[in-house]
Amino acid sequence: MYSDILFKTWLQEQTPRAPLMKNEPAFYRRLEQSLDKARKDNGLITVKPRWDDTVVDLTTSDFLSLNRTGRIREAFKSELARHGDFVSAPPREIADFHNSETAWIAHSGFFANVGVLEAVLLPGDAIVYDELSHASTILGMKVSMAAEKIPFKHNSLDSLRDVLESLKNSGPAFASGEQSILICVESVYSMEGDICPLKEFVDLAKEMFPAGNAQFIIDEAHSSGVIGPKGSGLVQMLGLEKEISIRLHMCSKALASTGGVILCNKTIRSTIIQNSRALTYSGAPSFPMVASIRAGYQLLISGETQKAQDDIQRNAKYFFELLTTDPICEEAIDEGLLTIPLADDWEQRSIHSHIIPIKTPSHIQLYPKERAASDWFCTRTTQEKR
Ligand SMILES: Cc1ncc(COP(=O)(O)O)c(C=O)c1O
Repeated sequence: MYSDILFKTWLQEQTPRAPLMKNEPAFYRRLEQSLDKARKDNGLITVKPRWDDTVVDLTTSDFLSLNRTGRIREAFKSELARHGDFVSAPPREIADFHNSETAWIAHSGFFANVGVLEAVLLPGDAIVYDELSHASTILGMKVSMAAEKIPFKHNSLDSLRDVLESLKNSGPAFASGEQSILICVESVYSMEGDICPLKEFVDLAKEMFPAGNAQFIIDEAHSSGVIGPKGSGLVQMLGLEKEISIRLHMCSKALASTGGVILCNKTIRSTIIQNSRALTYSGAPSFPMVASIRAGYQLLISGETQKAQDDIQRNAKYFFELLTTDPICEEAIDEGLLTIPLADDWEQRSIHSHIIPIKTPSHIQLYPKERAASDWFCTRTTQEKR
């Protein structure tokens, strides 16, 4: 059974190795010592064995099941068979689909984030970011030239207002527009599964900085293919294309490929080309990669993924219904064994994400080993029928 193989492989990886390496080169032994510490503290991160078909996929990013059903492979093959003007067509098509002046295909979503943040902040500028921002945003901030990097509380309008207020009061340059602020948000948060109140954020930033020096970058990794007209994302669902400076769509999730699409105007694009080492000192995406991204986009543009997108909404609602009416689940919540934050008031929300976290308290032992099990499970309701 897949779960047996999964746990066996996982347990094998948790066995300390350094004590067995007395005669090995010190370089490797020291690395294993540090891995042994991770094994002891929280468990070593391991790569799971490939799914087999007996497993219902509740955790991967194949949100539209394009990978599992083989649809992306078919689309990729026909893309290769019929492409003509290939080099320049995909960015234009993608830009048009997203109502953006330009689209740039980067070789990884992660490095799209790093490369953009590296490029677009000038000395003295500030980054204001949601405290639950992805690791790629955190790394991008580290290499950016921003003088200040300030978090605000997750999805909180009040906290964002406080941070912007403090910057405005820190000196005349932010208030006058001589220095800029880039606000980093994600449309759907990858662990919390909740959706950014983007319209409220945009209105606030415009009101507080009428010179237009407070702008947004949004990571649409988990809304691509899932939210908005034909899966074009949260910004397009809200009609905010003109208000958001930079949108990043990751192709490694619903599109079942790899790479990141940067949507921005020509000024930002030129700035990236000028300043981003992460994006320009690395090879361009390969031909097969661009072909597979184009294949995925063709599936969105043609409307072929619409049913899968609708099924996500249907399945999320069904899952919430089950969670909130199941007596065992109710008892577990009452006993404090589970919390399901998104299940509160789920009927009030007009749109759901496919990520529904079920949290367990840190004192429950989830694994057969002695281990601080502070982890929590995260369930993704893909469009697959259950
Ligand atoms: C929110 C978010 N941004 C960026 C990335 C990185 O994207 P990619 O895997 O395409 O490099 C991920 C991937 O896990 C993500 O969840």
